[in-house]
Amino acid sequence: MSDGDGHDGHDGHRAASDLRVESYLVSAGRPARAPGAPVNPPVQLTSTYAADGAVNYARVGNPTWSAFEEVLGGLEGGEALVHASGMGAIAAALSLVPAGGTVLAPDQTYNGTVDLLAAFAAAGGTVLRRHATDTAGLLEEIARADLVWLESPTNPLMDVVDLPVVLAAARTAGVPSVVDNTLSTPLLCRPLTLGADVVVHSVTKYLAGHSDVVLGATVVGWDARGQAIGERLRRHRTLHGAIAGPMEVYLALRGLRTLALRFERGCASAAELARRLHGHPAVTRVRYPGSGAMLAIDVVGDAAAAERVCAATTVWLHSTSLGGVESQIERRRRHPSEPVGVPESLLRLSVGIEHVEDLWADLDRALREVSASRT
Ligand SMILES: Cc1ncc(COP(=O)(O)O)c(C=O)c1O
Repeated sequence: MSDGDGHDGHDGHRAASDLRVESYLVSAGRPARAPGAPVNPPVQLTSTYAADGAVNYARVGNPTWSAFEEVLGGLEGGEALVHASGMGAIAAALSLVPAGGTVLAPDQTYNGTVDLLAAFAAAGGTVLRRHATDTAGLLEEIARADLVWLESPTNPLMDVVDLPVVLAAARTAGVPSVVDNTLSTPLLCRPLTLGADVVVHSVTKYLAGHSDVVLGATVVGWDARGQAIGERLRRHRTLHGAIAGPMEVYLALRGLRTLALRFERGCASAAELARRLHGHPAVTRVRYPGSGAMLAIDVVGDAAAAERVCAATTVWLHSTSLGGVESQIERRRRHPSEPVGVPESLLRLSVGIEHVEDLWADLDRALREVSASRT
């Protein structure tokens, strides 16, 4: 598969097909074409299978999972496993660290990961933290780590990690690395091609894209090292039992078909909104990583003012989560578990597929209304 810009995607990982990504997303993971064959893979509602087949029980495998895993694996350039949620995938990846081991991570990541790492530390592990943009600091700590955990851009501060440099250094040092690729999606970044050992996704977000399922995935490389790690992740999934329902996986596969279109629109609108928000009288800082469909803004005033902006929007949906077709807005510090490094007045914006002028008019009006009510 080559990427949307027409670059050759053959990068040492097994190529899923020679199609460009938009076409690949539409055609991959379908039943073989034959007279009368269905267009979509069936939803296999079964807990068990007749004896002596390749898989004997549905906690181990399901053909509906396989179709989704085939498509996502091809997209990332590796082998995918679907998990019950993004957190299920993150927990599986963190299980690669030995008890009492050491994880190196940016000082601010998605708050579920922050909490899970805190639990890991409370159980005797060590978490080394450096700022996401402190590349020299991250490189300095790699040798002390059993696992390097990266997320880029970080959620919600939108800091960008120098993935090519940090992942290459981890590989050279022989330290396994994981990248949470939820915000970038494989359309913007394919961490396995940069040396990552595991890619993690909250499929709930862009990949499924319609705010109707909670789902996760891990992806490992095709090489022997990737396959060995993949076996451990698969075993974790089977034994801990955080498995996906076939209906959810079917919906995620259906969502994947339009990922390129949805993401292209979201990225274009996010860039335009970021441009317009710079210099807005009610905004003190725009956090936009330069690509992707997410941004964050620090608004003038306190937490209550920021909450009022969310409440005043009518096109933007005031809700948690991101990556759906509907644009979402949220003050992240409303969650007690959000790291204190996230400003009280920061609003996270997930840009969906509505018309950009409707999004702008709604946000600009809400910001100005709240601003006017303070004076
Ligand atoms: C970057 C990131 N990773 C992981 C997760 C967790 O995924 P899930 O909610 O599917 O468990 C989230 C959820 O918000 C996220 O934003």
